[in-house]
Amino acid sequence: MKYIMAPSILSADFKVLGEQIRLTEENGAEYLHFDVMDGMFVPSISFGMPVLKSIRSATNQIMDAHLMIEEPVRYVEAFGKAGAEIVTVHLEACENVDATIEKIRECGMRAGLSICPETGEEKLERYLSKVDMVLVMSVHPGFGGQKFIPESLDKIRAVRRMICEQELEVDIQVDGGIYLHNVREVLDAGANIIVAGSAVFGGDPAENTREFMEILKSYE
Ligand code: DX5
Ligand code: ZN
Repeated sequence: MKYIMAPSILSADFKVLGEQIRLTEENGAEYLHFDVMDGMFVPSISFGMPVLKSIRSATNQIMDAHLMIEEPVRYVEAFGKAGAEIVTVHLEACENVDATIEKIRECGMRAGLSICPETGEEKLERYLSKVDMVLVMSVHPGFGGQKFIPESLDKIRAVRRMICEQELEVDIQVDGGIYLHNVREVLDAGANIIVAGSAVFGGDPAENTREFMEILKSYE
């Protein structure tokens, strides 16, 4: 299993976004996590396709779009055209989860399925064989800089157990409140893709990415 760092640009300094992204790429972050918020599914608004399009040419990182939006199937193709390689949707936001996952695949992208803290992992079970990645939210989506919800660790363990029981190769991404001091607990629970916004961009992105990568490498 590959261990991957996915810095969330939600917390980046948008005055120098290209430079900040480059610092994470140079120091080993393979993904770039792109938190899209519509003010409906979550109580905040972030950014969309034009920003993704403009940064596409600035990096070779995998563009990992996390759609915290109502009825995301409406925008899957547009995010693919803007440069997303992975599109993750929220189970709670889809009228038809199967159709949404199929749309992501039809557009040639990898599919992720996410659940909020209040959604039980058992709701994921029937989709595990259809997706490439599961995103376990460890905060209530909508804002960076929140505190990690400790109950998420049991949920990550349960999801990893389900994936093993079905003998699948599905990545587990965790997003929200992850810092250098608690990332090992998240990895020990079974996650292999780490999203961090404040912990990377709330300081020196190069140094922070390097320190995260050192820990992730020790799990390889
Ligand atoms: C959902 C967002 C945030 C962000 C990470 O609100 O998905 O979780 O990516 O934020 P930090 O790492 O600052 O908690
Ligand atoms: Zn996210």
